[in-house]
Amino acid sequence: MENRPQWGTRAGFILAAAGSAIGLGNIWRFPAVAYENGGGAFFIPYLFALLTAGIPILIMEFAIGHKYRSSAPGSLGKINRKFQDIGWWQLAVSFVISVYYAAVIAWALSYAIFSINLSWGEDTEGFLFGEYLKLADTPGQFGGIVPGVFIPLAIVWLAALFILYKGVKKGIEAANKIMLPALLVLFAILVIRALTLDGAAEGLNAFFKPNWDSILNGKVWVAAYSQIFFSLSIGFAIMVTYSSYLGKKSDITNNAFITGFANSGFELLAGIGVFSILGFMAMQQGVAVDEVVSGGVGLAFVVFPQIINQLPALNGFFGFLFFGSLVLAGMTSLISIVETYICGVQEKFNISRTKSVLYGGGLAAIISIIFSSNGGLYFLDVIDYFINNFGVALAGLVEVIAVAWVARQLGKLQEHANEISDIKLGIWWKVCLGVITPVVLGIMMFDNLRTNILENYEGYATWFVTAYGWAVVVAVIIVGIVFGLIKNKTPQATGAKEVSQ
Ligand code: ALA
Repeated sequence: MENRPQWGTRAGFILAAAGSAIGLGNIWRFPAVAYENGGGAFFIPYLFALLTAGIPILIMEFAIGHKYRSSAPGSLGKINRKFQDIGWWQLAVSFVISVYYAAVIAWALSYAIFSINLSWGEDTEGFLFGEYLKLADTPGQFGGIVPGVFIPLAIVWLAALFILYKGVKKGIEAANKIMLPALLVLFAILVIRALTLDGAAEGLNAFFKPNWDSILNGKVWVAAYSQIFFSLSIGFAIMVTYSSYLGKKSDITNNAFITGFANSGFELLAGIGVFSILGFMAMQQGVAVDEVVSGGVGLAFVVFPQIINQLPALNGFFGFLFFGSLVLAGMTSLISIVETYICGVQEKFNISRTKSVLYGGGLAAIISIIFSSNGGLYFLDVIDYFINNFGVALAGLVEVIAVAWVARQLGKLQEHANEISDIKLGIWWKVCLGVITPVVLGIMMFDNLRTNILENYEGYATWFVTAYGWAVVVAVIIVGIVFGLIKNKTPQATGAKEVSQ
């Protein structure tokens, strides 16, 4: 156990945890999800999911990682041998997320460079799908590798794996200490500029104006839960892994509140910034704000370049700030996602960190090349949707049920957290995890599953959603079970020596 790497300082841990939480999900996912799901009214399910599931699960994962001081399969396996499978399932989910997450960071890296002389031109949609991604005609075709995407993708992976190779303190902690404050500064400048644009008020009005009808819609609640899980990095092994590197006397509960509120604060800031800018664009075009809103890829890589073209001054500079922010936010999250399986593989097979980075990270980097092919965007879209809905949120739900109901461990974890934390957990924490989250999320999950079986996501062909959506969801469960069956190289592996610390 003495060999287990540790964070250098409490601030280092909080920066790393917040760096993991604040990611692409906050900047390109949240504003569109909030808007599509009722605007101002979305904040009710969002806050409900944050307070009754997000923060309580974060506290639970911090407590599990800190108490058992192992990777996610190792820590969950110490609660009950069978729970190892849940840990491996979560690691497999992380593996899948990392392979496409890196591709989005690679696009942002390219766009940061393009923004210097606005080389996307006037037709930003044609540029993204045609000139840049060279998108295939139909979903499911691989085509060839697109060098313009492959090269930045290789850079992203080399940078991420180098940071991970350097270890927890000298790699992950050091990188977060630079990247997260840099992100906050860049983003603050961007939001201030956005708020002072003409039309910002109309944009904010569209963002916050509540559509109360949506509050009774089950889909809106699933959207809120999925957003909270993805955004807080819970349910896919990250926070258990990160907290397993805490020192013995570290605070748990306070750290979880700080991380949770920092993440949601940044998310809100991103929403305010994005909608102020959309308000500006709507005013320029003389249309309503809802006509310029689009989610995900469209918002970041089509609408934003258009807006940057229209800014009165310093266009390239603000373009660079926006895409640079995406790169920084994405990198600090990517390293946390990859660290989950690097740590898991290292422990399971009792190999050095270097080997684990090479094998685990290397395999992910190679598979990631799929997303630099002509068909990359379609694969990304369908895998992202399915792995979020039926990977992250489902694995999180199963984890909560296993810990709370099957192993009945909430009392012990509460005691553990209370012994070392400033804020003492009360009965509310057990009610949230033992009753509210399993019941509410369970019902929503069932409803969402039914809807997706009846109707293909985005109207894609059945073979395509089956092969790249449902099959991936099932494959990660099978991988979890298979890895759970493989015997550990060492019975009590808690992380071998870090090479460079
Ligand atoms: N928590 C990370 C994000 O929001 C994965 O993007």
